[in-house]
Amino acid sequence: MAMAMKWLGGKLRILDQSKLPGAQIFADLENYRDVVLAIQEMKIRGAPTIGVAAAYGIALGASNINTATRDEFLVQLNQVMRAFAASRPTAVNLFQAINRMKEATEGDDVDEIKGSLVNQAKRIHREEIAATRQLSQLGAKLIDNGSTLLTHCNAGPLATAGYGTALGVIKAAKDQGKKVKVFVTETRPLLQGARLTTWELREEGLPVTLITDSMAGYFMYKGKIDCVVVGADRIASNGDSANKIGTYTLAVLAKENKIPFYIAAPTSTIDLSLSSGAEIPIEERNPEEITHIQGIPIAPEGIRAANPAFDVTSHSYITAIITEKGIVKEPYTEGLKGITSRFT
Ligand code: MRU
Repeated sequence: MAMAMKWLGGKLRILDQSKLPGAQIFADLENYRDVVLAIQEMKIRGAPTIGVAAAYGIALGASNINTATRDEFLVQLNQVMRAFAASRPTAVNLFQAINRMKEATEGDDVDEIKGSLVNQAKRIHREEIAATRQLSQLGAKLIDNGSTLLTHCNAGPLATAGYGTALGVIKAAKDQGKKVKVFVTETRPLLQGARLTTWELREEGLPVTLITDSMAGYFMYKGKIDCVVVGADRIASNGDSANKIGTYTLAVLAKENKIPFYIAAPTSTIDLSLSSGAEIPIEERNPEEITHIQGIPIAPEGIRAANPAFDVTSHSYITAIITEKGIVKEPYTEGLKGITSRFT
């Protein structure tokens, strides 16, 4: 299983996802600013992975603060947390992780707090691993033997620092003895599907067919796809779900073609403070990601381009949301409130 990151006591080792699949380059980050940059430059990406990386990054930032005075330490730690909060806006896992790290600053002694922050980051990581394993087991029950699934972007171990969400469900279905095939959309502009999902699925020995994003409707209409399963970056309390740009298109196509459309996500992706997806902040990224592919220009110089990184799929297109605490269907408002208030 690909390792998204590892805490090495005093530094954070990450696998640079921006270089995959051409090269497997690991980077040892010793400064919290390098972790913030790695998130912004999408060397580490995917909602749960961003949350875990921020948690370790905060622990790293704390360990480098040079004062024994609690108040001064907390002022500087707050700056570290603010830098992470400003790194990427859409995945709520980031903000959940920052809030949980704040809970670990209770102690009186600065060294004690530094230790608690490392322990909290490790706890958050362990919980994501357990949650993604559990939701994958639950979700796999929805997958029929002999199915062909379609997935978008990358929602495997790289994106979760754990077992995977959408890809976890697919892997667990295979482990349950089901024969499954997977269609993977390339996922313009940064090609997480073509570069990462195909790579992870091939490592698992699953049969993969790579298609361009615009081919999805063709294959659905032809009856080649039995269900769609994707991850999410933020799920509002009514079930509206933000995920990689293009997900909404797939959901509408799935409904038109009477194909089940599943979202797989840990409860750390649910944001009950938002009543609908209209309130989810959507990240706008550099237009150069559209006008260039891996640094090579593909459009006339100076052309205007738009680059929203995510879109929101209305709950009305979602057949079910698969979480580690259960599978939720309409009415989502009650279902999501119910599972998030449940003790583990
Ligand atoms: O911009 P990215 O690559 O961070 O976007 C990732 C996605 O949209 C994933 O589908 C989502 O985070 C779910 S990951 C389990």
